[in-house]
Amino acid sequence: MGMRSHWQAIGFLGAYALLCVLIFYRAGLDIVKTLSPQGCRMSWMSPSYVLQAGLDHSWTPLASRYSLFLYREVGWEGPGELRGSPVLFIPGNAGSSHQVRSIASSATRQYFSSPYHVEAAFEHGPQRPVDFFALEFNEDLSAFDGHTLDAETAYARAAVDYILSLYEKPTSIILLGHSMGGTVAVSLLPHPNVSALITMSTAHTLPPARLDRRIDSILASNREILRDDSTPVLSLCGGATDLLVPAESCILPVPEADDGGSTFYRRTVFTSALEGAWTGVGHKEMVWCHQVRWRVARAVIELAAAAEHSTKVRGQVLDKWLRDGHAPPASFVDDGVGDHRDTIDLSALRPEEVHYSDALLLRRPTQSHTYLLPIPNTPTQSNSLFTLYLSRGSIAPISPHNPLPLRVSVYLCSSSTHTSCPRLSPTILKLVPEPVPDKPFPAPDEGSDESEGVVVFVANVPIGTSEQQSYVAVLIEDADGRGWVTAGFAGDEPIVKDVGMFGLIWAGSKLDFPASTLRTEVVFPKLLSSSLVVYRLKSSLRDAATCKDALMPPLLEHTSDHFETHYFSLLQSQPHQATLLHSHASGPFVSTPLHGFNLIVYTSNDQPCSVENLYISINWWGTLGRWGTRYAQAVIAWGVGIVALALHHAWGAGEGPRPVPNVAESLSYLATRWLPKMLVLSVAVSFIPLPTGMWLGNVGAPVFAGIAPLLLLVVVGLALSCGARRPTRSREIISARRNALVSMLFVFLLIVVFIPWQVAFLCAWIYHFYTCAAGAAVVRSASGKPKEHSIPLMSREESTIPPSPELASPRSSPSFSSFDALVSAYNTNRYILLLMTWLLPIAAPVLAVWVRTLAGSGLQAVWGAGSGWGWSSDRNVLVVAPWLVLVEWAGMGGTMFEPSLMLSPKHAMLVLALAAFFAGPRTPYFVLEVGSVMMVFVCAFGIGPRYWGRS
Ligand SMILES: *[C@@H]1O[C@H](CO)[C@@H](O)[C@H](O)[C@H]1NC(C)=O
Repeated sequence: MGMRSHWQAIGFLGAYALLCVLIFYRAGLDIVKTLSPQGCRMSWMSPSYVLQAGLDHSWTPLASRYSLFLYREVGWEGPGELRGSPVLFIPGNAGSSHQVRSIASSATRQYFSSPYHVEAAFEHGPQRPVDFFALEFNEDLSAFDGHTLDAETAYARAAVDYILSLYEKPTSIILLGHSMGGTVAVSLLPHPNVSALITMSTAHTLPPARLDRRIDSILASNREILRDDSTPVLSLCGGATDLLVPAESCILPVPEADDGGSTFYRRTVFTSALEGAWTGVGHKEMVWCHQVRWRVARAVIELAAAAEHSTKVRGQVLDKWLRDGHAPPASFVDDGVGDHRDTIDLSALRPEEVHYSDALLLRRPTQSHTYLLPIPNTPTQSNSLFTLYLSRGSIAPISPHNPLPLRVSVYLCSSSTHTSCPRLSPTILKLVPEPVPDKPFPAPDEGSDESEGVVVFVANVPIGTSEQQSYVAVLIEDADGRGWVTAGFAGDEPIVKDVGMFGLIWAGSKLDFPASTLRTEVVFPKLLSSSLVVYRLKSSLRDAATCKDALMPPLLEHTSDHFETHYFSLLQSQPHQATLLHSHASGPFVSTPLHGFNLIVYTSNDQPCSVENLYISINWWGTLGRWGTRYAQAVIAWGVGIVALALHHAWGAGEGPRPVPNVAESLSYLATRWLPKMLVLSVAVSFIPLPTGMWLGNVGAPVFAGIAPLLLLVVVGLALSCGARRPTRSREIISARRNALVSMLFVFLLIVVFIPWQVAFLCAWIYHFYTCAAGAAVVRSASGKPKEHSIPLMSREESTIPPSPELASPRSSPSFSSFDALVSAYNTNRYILLLMTWLLPIAAPVLAVWVRTLAGSGLQAVWGAGSGWGWSSDRNVLVVAPWLVLVEWAGMGGTMFEPSLMLSPKHAMLVLALAAFFAGPRTPYFVLEVGSVMMVFVCAFGIGPRYWGRS
């Protein structure tokens, strides 16, 4: 390959990388709009916050840093009085106590029908008003720094004790945690006085920012708490709409059943499945989205009333108010809907009240009737599936929150004359949305209404024998001309579509649907349910023109795992728009890729309109968007790996009589010679079933083997673009020797006492940046070609500059010309700068936390004893010491090591590269730690002897 095409290739690589970053970014943003749009009503309130000054230093040393507020609805509640049960809201990263207002206001306005008047439903019940307390963390950035999280937890613990002290004993408190606040809340468990915990948009299994070891260990101990503690915990997840917390990490780990087969209450509810909400909800929107907040508020009111009951009862309360329909409702506490008759007596009915029909279709029913539907005798099947849809009415105990009076009950009769028919128990009984034809679903800024929803009732019925016909009896009551009912039978076998991932990538897959049935289920056992794949579904409808008039235009339900369900209106996606299917059942670094998902199409049988076929394929734009959000941190880690490899190469090439080549040279060598092999290798490694925390977290799933080379190209391209950038500022090289040891001791002392090591790292980086800038100036003047050296992107000339012997350096080794030594030292410094630059994104967020804390709460808070910032292990001198030594040495013009050394620091760089590639994507902070250890090695073997030996 000629030099020219060589450089062109590198240029292309850089352009490719930038293009990819742009694509990932754009596609990532589009996800919010396309995958799981949000339909939420805004919420309104009249807030006020009463500072709880009683929580002072006698309770916690953090009293001056954080505070506690009591929410009061202006005009509805007096500011001081505490009348009910306490609830504590814990805000998340950069959150505020004011985020409690939507939920708290809703609780007040549900409990009271008007100021100081208790709502009729609660007047004689055990429910009492709830007092919402909220923590104020001054918008601390708890997602980036474990010690901030520790401080918040300590304060929250004190706040819980303080709040409990305000009430008569015994009392208990309910915790609500948003985002990282949920992590704080779980850390408070086990607590004898916490009756339940609801987390909202909280990551439970994988920290959203993996830049701090402490956060990882907090999450690990939280997982143990979630495994062992009996407090009911419910996790609300916003799904793909939440760009900050990948929803696969929002799923609570399910504890294994103990010997008795019972497990603690752990429920994950996706808002896309939450009955009555059926919408994706963004990260911040989770606390104010009306459809979610009123349910949370109601659950809290009911939980407080059930606080004295067993954890099982509290779990049932949560299941009732935050239902996602994944299990048929348990035996609920009687909620006044229906009269719960367990049998009907056919002989007691007057003949004119009973109708026989093969299928049921009632538009606007007006009369109470009992319908007897003969169960078909299909010899090929032993079971038949009875399906009934009821719009806006109730099949106890399921209904929209504000249902019509219309009630339906379903019974199984073994003959038409049999006197007593038992209630038919459903396999599925849930509420599904009722999208309005021609309107997007969910309706933007509006969403679903409390009276909307179709109750779906599905039950397995044994088919009749030829001697005896059995029936399903459907009892319709309180019909007032609103709503509709439709019912019928179908086989209970789902359509199984055996298409695999590669078949889908290659050609997509078409699926024909049987003619009109109420409910068609399709199973894709071989397709992945992973957050890294987005499918595209195109449907075509029979008699599409009639769909608009159908009682139930085709509604698609997509279910993966037992947590997550999404609903789509197939009507609105005609004719241009496709439906995008996504899932969070598994994801990188969280779990092994899971296979299989179900599609269910609901249609009513009143119009010929039905689904003719579905065509499923991969949606690449969405898929790329998912990769971008999942692997941003991997790019940083791998960037460190690439620079480490470049340094490895440079130090190898710099052995013997040759100088260390410059950064651009090494990187381009890497890009042209090693990259092809690395690409092949990365694909090969992707097939190895490594643990979830390693490599790209996909446990060797072959479908994802293409991600590694794609990312690798991006990273190399980015490294080239960065490596080619030259520092422009220059100044005189620092030649005066300062008393380095003293100044360094001073910095170490600062770290131990006061500043986090990340700050020292930034200082080291700045200092080194100037060293490099100065070095550039010296090399430039030494080469005698100042103009040409203020140069183009990648300079090839630097190391081929003719030696200029007159520029003698006292520290150069005798085997080297002094100019070579200068160039070597300068080039080495550039590598170190590049390495530190790639490590900076890992260190910088903690830096931001520190600056913010300093600015927000003052020195005292930062330094406050026991605050997590005082004398903590985070003042880790060891992590930053080698960098300080290194840059100090470089700043004084020291060369890095004897090129002939046997045990060479270049091997340390190989170790760093391996750590960056294999462990970096999951734990970027680990790369920084390994980098530091390797730099200790470099210091000890490379510059150590001379560092101490110099005078
Ligand atoms: C907390 O719970 C314990 C154990 O149930 C109880 O003895 C104690 O009184 C409770 N504390 C408060 C302040 O209610």
